[in-house]
Amino acid sequence: MVSLSEVRTHNATLSSLAPNLVAIFVGGTSGISHYTALEFARNTRSPHIYLVGRNAAEAAKITSELKSINNSSKVDFIQKDVSLLRKVDEVCKEIKEKEKKVNLLFMTIGYMTLKGRNETEEGLDHKFALHYYARTRFMHNLAPLLDAAAKDEDPKATLSRVVSVYDPALGKNNDFDFSDPSLKNNFSLKNCATHGSALGNFAIEHLAKQWPNTSFIHEQPGIVETSGGRNPWLKPLYALLSPFSVSKKESGERHLFEATAPRYAPRAKAEAVQGVVNGGDGVKGSGHYHLSWNGEAQPDTKRGMKMRAEGAEEKMWAHTSEVFQKICEEGGKY
Ligand SMILES: NC(=O)c1ccc[n+]([C@@H]2O[C@H](COP(=O)([O-])OP(=O)(O)OC[C@H]3O[C@@H](n4cnc5c(N)ncnc54)[C@H](OP(=O)(O)O)[C@@H]3O)[C@@H](O)[C@H]2O)c1
Repeated sequence: MVSLSEVRTHNATLSSLAPNLVAIFVGGTSGISHYTALEFARNTRSPHIYLVGRNAAEAAKITSELKSINNSSKVDFIQKDVSLLRKVDEVCKEIKEKEKKVNLLFMTIGYMTLKGRNETEEGLDHKFALHYYARTRFMHNLAPLLDAAAKDEDPKATLSRVVSVYDPALGKNNDFDFSDPSLKNNFSLKNCATHGSALGNFAIEHLAKQWPNTSFIHEQPGIVETSGGRNPWLKPLYALLSPFSVSKKESGERHLFEATAPRYAPRAKAEAVQGVVNGGDGVKGSGHYHLSWNGEAQPDTKRGMKMRAEGAEEKMWAHTSEVFQKICEEGGKY
């Protein structure tokens, strides 16, 4: 476990990084992205923060909060429903028109529901699209800008990292149906969680090889009071769980650590980093990391190894590419 004092000591060093780092919080209008954006603003110099989400009122409140913490922050809100991949492309296009480099892509889009499959006009389940396909489309589209940041001539401006907050553990423990990756036929909440998690794991494994100057993290945040805390039905549940919860502030601090600490180095730079952790494939410094709420790298499991031996990375990326092709390139549905 990374202690909170270690987290705080590291975060306090971030003011020595170059000014004007660019961070994109997809899901920045609430919860873990919101708490992490606050810590990013608190600890860096003149940050440029993008908040992506739908709720303009929350975005306005958070923008004021960020500016009150650090009045040199620049904040842009991009209002978009990114459950549609073609809308993800619109967001990325807007960012690419303004930025040449991106230092941090931090993603938390999603929600809890007990409802069954709910198909979007693009032919994907709505929740599954947010937990996996939209996030991977963001990574795919913004990878060149993350790579450009890694190659900045100022060594203090080379942060290049993706953090996807969901849960890397599920995909290593349950069965993945390679014959129906998008769950058109076999949708259940359990299958959706398993598939979102496994696809998330193997997508970052694939991307870390393609983009070795960027590190990719898939993390499980523990129990954190977030948008559910606004729901009167869930409020008592959060109160009950509070002894086991991570506070909002600590969650923001820990996620900022994961978003910046050298121990989660990109593949190309890992060898030079003392204390670099094992990647999701069990290999030290492989550039794709599965983390628990406390920053510990999760060991590779038998299930994960078996899936890898079955060609999971190639099969899952082929599926993802087919989805992108049909929806984003051909303008159709999957
Ligand atoms: N909190 C926990 O205890 C916990 C535990 C385990 C795992 N997780 C996972 O961690 C992730 C983050 O959770 P959180 O608790 O921080 O969530 P949250 O507070 O509910 O925030 C989710 C964010 O996603 C955005 N969003 C949802 N649908 C969207 C859409 N169609 N288009 C654009 N943005 C959309 C929301 O913004 P708008 O409403 O503005 O659209 C919001 O900013 C989730 O994947 C969750 O499953 C959380």
